[in-house]
Amino acid sequence: MTEKIAVDDLTEAQAKAELARLVVELKLADASYYRDDDPHLTDAEYDALRQRNSAIETRFPALKRKDSPSDRVGGSLADGFKKAQHLKPMLSLDNAFTSEDVRDFGDRIRRFLGIGAEQELALTSEPKIDGLSLSLTYRNGALVSATTRGDGQQGEDVTENARTIGEIPQQLSGDGWPDEIEIRGEVYIDTQDFLALNHREAEAGRKTFANPRNAAAGGLRQLDVSITKSRRLKFFAYAWGDVSSDFATTQTEAIAFFKAWGFKTNPYFQRHLRTDDLLLAYQALTEQRASLGYDIDGVVYKVDRLDWQQRLGQVSRFPRWAIAHKFPAEKAQTRLEAIDIQVGRTGTLTPVARLLPVSVGGVVVSNATVHNEDEIARLDLRVGDSVEIQRAGDVIPQIVRVVDPERENRSPSYQMPKNCPECGAPAEREIDEKGEEDVRRRCTGGLSCPAQIIEKLKHFVSRKALDIDGLGGRQIELFFDKGVVTAPQHIFQLSQRIAGTGLPALSRWDGFGATSEAKLLGAIEAHRAVPFARFLNGLGIRHVGETTSQLLARTFLSWSAFWETVIAAAEHAETEQEAYLLSIDGIGQTAVNSLTGFARQAHNREMLDALLSELQIIDAEAPSMGSVVAGKTVVFTGALETLTRDEAKARAAALGAKVAGSVSSKTDIVVAGAGAGSKLKKAEQLGLTIMTEAEWIEYIAAG
Ligand code: IVH
Repeated sequence: MTEKIAVDDLTEAQAKAELARLVVELKLADASYYRDDDPHLTDAEYDALRQRNSAIETRFPALKRKDSPSDRVGGSLADGFKKAQHLKPMLSLDNAFTSEDVRDFGDRIRRFLGIGAEQELALTSEPKIDGLSLSLTYRNGALVSATTRGDGQQGEDVTENARTIGEIPQQLSGDGWPDEIEIRGEVYIDTQDFLALNHREAEAGRKTFANPRNAAAGGLRQLDVSITKSRRLKFFAYAWGDVSSDFATTQTEAIAFFKAWGFKTNPYFQRHLRTDDLLLAYQALTEQRASLGYDIDGVVYKVDRLDWQQRLGQVSRFPRWAIAHKFPAEKAQTRLEAIDIQVGRTGTLTPVARLLPVSVGGVVVSNATVHNEDEIARLDLRVGDSVEIQRAGDVIPQIVRVVDPERENRSPSYQMPKNCPECGAPAEREIDEKGEEDVRRRCTGGLSCPAQIIEKLKHFVSRKALDIDGLGGRQIELFFDKGVVTAPQHIFQLSQRIAGTGLPALSRWDGFGATSEAKLLGAIEAHRAVPFARFLNGLGIRHVGETTSQLLARTFLSWSAFWETVIAAAEHAETEQEAYLLSIDGIGQTAVNSLTGFARQAHNREMLDALLSELQIIDAEAPSMGSVVAGKTVVFTGALETLTRDEAKARAAALGAKVAGSVSSKTDIVVAGAGAGSKLKKAEQLGLTIMTEAEWIEYIAAG
């Protein structure tokens, strides 16, 4: 019985079991207290359980559970909502922008299903509501849970909030509903309510919402459900996830059922028999858009027959049987107030246009990226100009053109700084082997440039490198500013460095607490062993990114063997070691130069030594050489269906294949998914082996 053992005497295994027991005890206690108004523990007993839980977490931070009671206050999460799993993933939609794209969509479906032009293909059209999607689970007709989309697999449990939305039935009407069904649709706020809300916010001196979608999302995700209720959110039902039994044969029929069960469905839903009629519906909605009373950002087309939807299936995150025909990018004009320079991880200077804030399609825009100085010259951008900007979907706004290029007294042409604005070192455009100038200008300050250090640190802890939970860009900036983390090894000495700097313990910093301190330190400890490829990628050496790092790890297996080779190649040019590096398929002179250049710098070697005394590099595993693809170079292109891109690459690599990013005569196999373009063409020209994803899976399974 672990519950009798003092916290200090618990072994790690006992602590783990005890945390599992406590989470259940506390959940039951919460439910009886908050839900049933019938507490079965005294307050003192309840507090003792919570304290014991916290004490164990403090002693074993790494064991802290995702559903830890310390993160929960009463019935709800203190710093967020409970996570809930979707029974079927919530998919996203592929986009169409032109009539051509829509016709292609129709043609693709016919081709996939193998139906000729003479056979009827019914498609539906409906507005694409600009809100946030929500999945509602009904059991025996009663609403039992509501979950936001989240990452598509798992979202946030907002059941109590959803219950305050009048248009979401608590109990389905009529009949014919499956015993269990996930109903999906869009939560939104209508234009009038949005304007009134922003008016109230402004009156109260609070921040207003940039657009109705943000207001709806913010309204739904409220720990205080009375706020959700006051937002007057609405809901259109348009899709479903998991169902315990089939209930319809067409999309049209399903929507009619939804309506009969008490949902609001969109009145502009239509069924069509010709692809061109979709375009008429799009045209009509374009004209009605402004007077609908709620925001829409396009029109969704779906295959009507559900058996066909089933056969069409999905490609990565998109169903093949539906597409969103988006309205064109929204444009606006504003003034270019300044051009600032941002310095990236490898020292690239990127101009950022600072704009007089302007609303574009409901979003206030005050910055736009401009790729490089050639782009500034091409647009002839000058500070003070009126510029036209455009924004499509969630992409970063772009400057399209200068509106008044003939204006008198324009500022002089913009000159890119010749020195890094962050550290003052010269910023240069490199010349490649062909004598061509790189479009990017780079700071030559290396690790004496604070901007580069920060960006490098961010990269070091990023998802494809060390991937430390709770240590992202914001934390890195904070630690850097305080002088606590200025080199990667400092991350592993965090507490000592904080103490050494004379700062209070992390738990007393703004925005941190005992829990988040324990969590962060635990996550850092858990990353003291790093796989070779992730470590190398994390170093952020130019031209040695994720794929190259994986390739090198697979080739050398051991970090020390690899690093010794690099050092030898760095110390003497044209050695056997350099030749060996160059002989690796997929490694070129640029990457080798970059590696040896990195190794030649004393400060990099010191940093590596310091890092290696803090962490341990996990050697890569020997690929199973017996496989049919061992040693072959494979390129994946287009959208994959059953495997994610990362998964496909990882699996190929595990079988000993080399995964390359581009097609060349050295490529052995090209796996082409839907929408494959130039790489597929090149493979055809070179006469390479081309496989579909299914063929590839079968091929690797066979051998
Ligand atoms: S159908 C599997 N219909 O658009 C298909 N989605 O870009 C499920 N959306 O995540 C989606 N209006 O949040 C569908 N009438 C509509 C929609 C709609 C808005 C949203 C939805 C989805 C996103 C995809």
